Amino acid sequence: MKKVFVTSIVLAFLIGASFFTVKLIEATSQEDMLKEDKFLIIAHRGASGYAPEHTLESYKLAKKMGADYIEIDLQMTKDGELVAMHDEKVNRTTNGKGYVKDYTLKELKQLDAGSWFNKKFPNHSSPHYKGLQVPTLKEILKTFGSKANYYIETKHPKDHPGMEKELITLLDQHGLLDGDLAKGAVVIQSFSSESLTNIHKLNKDIPLIQLQHLKKNKKVTKKELAEIKTYAVGVGPKFSRMSKDYVKKVKEAGLFLHPYTVNEKEPAQSLQEMGANGVITNFADILSEEKGKRASR
Ligand code: G3P
Ligand code: CA
Repeated sequence: MKKVFVTSIVLAFLIGASFFTVKLIEATSQEDMLKEDKFLIIAHRGASGYAPEHTLESYKLAKKMGADYIEIDLQMTKDGELVAMHDEKVNRTTNGKGYVKDYTLKELKQLDAGSWFNKKFPNHSSPHYKGLQVPTLKEILKTFGSKANYYIETKHPKDHPGMEKELITLLDQHGLLDGDLAKGAVVIQSFSSESLTNIHKLNKDIPLIQLQHLKKNKKVTKKELAEIKTYAVGVGPKFSRMSKDYVKKVKEAGLFLHPYTVNEKEPAQSLQEMGANGVITNFADILSEEKGKRASR
């Protein structure tokens, strides 16, 4: 009788332990994106080589092509909505004119953010792109949820006071700051160290990337990189400005290296060999044998 009792206890323990293990695996099954041995494809403004940048279509195509991240530039409207757009002005990527910050969201939504692409890139044009809207960050997060990884840039943060706080609030509201999400599900980048340190004060867990304007005649010092390391996990330089000395220092500092904007396979492969941890590219299929043969919609 005693033997049966002990066996039952052991069995119950084993069943419980295996259930717990399965739950643990489930909870941590999303892949950690920020690892030294991983080479990331970060889709610059979405699959912007194939579709109008910073539209939901562009992000969807990037995901379809297997990008690890969708890159999003943030601006703020007159009425405080975070929207995805690279330029301060709407002129280049819509049929409107003027600064984003002078538009209310309702006004911005009237603009056509797709037709310019059809005119500029007839080889990749699609009737589908005509009349696309400028997406808000809320719409992007709602569309992709935790099924995408986000590489978000605060643009002109001085012109948009409060943008960092609003960004963190929206990420939180969409469950993207939950502890059980993979490390690096959201990365925030900026050329502004002030914007990044503001974010770091608000949330110490979000990995940050310091974008860098490398100058031809001025070497980046170990001291500068050590300072960056106090709030960021990596750096994002223009790839054509990188020197071997720079790469060595970045690696020695223990920072990730995500160069932009790399649109050809060969330089992407060389960068990987040099120790870069990914590339920011307009062509999310850059490393694919099928590059250029856009996935059919
Ligand atoms: O992520 C780096 C890259 O996005 C910075 O350049 O001007 O395209 O935002 P830009
Ligand atoms: Ca950007």
